[in-house]
Amino acid sequence: MAGAVVLALLLLLAAMAAASVAAAGGCAGEAFSANRAYAACSDLPRLGASLRWTYDRGAGGELSVAFVAAPAAPGGWVAWGLNPAGDGMAGAQALVAVPSSSGAWEVRTYNISGYALGEPGPIAFPASDLAAELGADGRVRVFGTLSLAAYGGAGVLNQVWQVGPAVTGGVPAPHAMGGANLAAKAKLDLLTQTTTAASSSSDAIAKKRNIHGLLNAVSWGILLPMGAILARYLKTFRSADPAWFYLHVSCQLIGYGVGVAGWATGINLGNMSNGITYTLHRNIGIIVFALGTLQIFALFLRPKKENKYRVYWNMYHHSVGYTVIILGITNIFKGMTILGVEQRWKTAYVAVLCLLGVAAIILEVVTWGMVVKRRNAESKTFNSASNGHLPRHV
Ligand SMILES: *[C@@H]1O[C@H](CO)[C@@H](O)[C@H](O)[C@H]1NC(C)=O
Repeated sequence: MAGAVVLALLLLLAAMAAASVAAAGGCAGEAFSANRAYAACSDLPRLGASLRWTYDRGAGGELSVAFVAAPAAPGGWVAWGLNPAGDGMAGAQALVAVPSSSGAWEVRTYNISGYALGEPGPIAFPASDLAAELGADGRVRVFGTLSLAAYGGAGVLNQVWQVGPAVTGGVPAPHAMGGANLAAKAKLDLLTQTTTAASSSSDAIAKKRNIHGLLNAVSWGILLPMGAILARYLKTFRSADPAWFYLHVSCQLIGYGVGVAGWATGINLGNMSNGITYTLHRNIGIIVFALGTLQIFALFLRPKKENKYRVYWNMYHHSVGYTVIILGITNIFKGMTILGVEQRWKTAYVAVLCLLGVAAIILEVVTWGMVVKRRNAESKTFNSASNGHLPRHV
């Protein structure tokens, strides 16, 4: 049984490897006019298109691209764009190459707001060096440089592309609605300048990133806030003393352990990423790790309950603890933006946070109720029996 599964998996892998070799045509050796060269190439999964690019994260965050595809018919148009708003056509910031009657090619920019192309106009990513030419093989090469400066932070973007029928009167007519046309969208990964030769290592990196995200979201993002809630509210229940303390410490130790693993994968990813660093994400990560480590050591330096310095230790412990949690959650959202994770993961994480928040609010109300009741009971005892305890409030 297990052998059959392994065999099936191996066959599947072999089929995938064969398919990726067969699709390598687009990226395999192509020379461009004007000595244009690019750091990375990716065969796009539909319409026989490919994209080459170089991303310079410096100053303007400049992305130079060469998009290659054959129009749907001779004299037709081709288009490529980034969509910062979603993964389809609506919202795409597109470069559309159209032939003119003189035979020269023109590249126009379109800020596409719906499912019609609309009029050419400025796009969200200032475009320069636009050019297009028709190759002897019938494929159109579209060149351009987009400035991503205003869209900093994202390392994985949504891209869309399309090919259309013959252009008459200079206006690109709608493309076909076939399966391949509608599915012509993918992620563009700027974090690693993947080349075709290294495509299997890019899969490994993608996997590493997912592991990094998962470990950190579970540890800094869920376990540590949970541990803080345990400590804050269980403490009020006398019967939970000292169980709350051990629960809190175990929760935070496990969270910290998983968090350190997540942090280490992050540092490793940072070292592997090709000239691109997410300085803020990285720095917040380092601060969170340092403060978290401090909390662990502080546990051993905790003064006894009766010690007059204990109150200061408590103040320190709470402020550093809450800082770690707030920074940790902030950084998880930053990381999700960098990786361009699907909305459903963001929604799932927000739902978990809401759940923790609601639990905290309910416990806050319950424990306040208990504290008030306890004080009332204590002051009643004082009034009737005068047992020597001063009431805590008058
Ligand atoms: C693109 O279109 C949208 C919606 O019509 C608009 O909000 C946005 O400002 C436009 N962007 C640019 C760069 O003109």
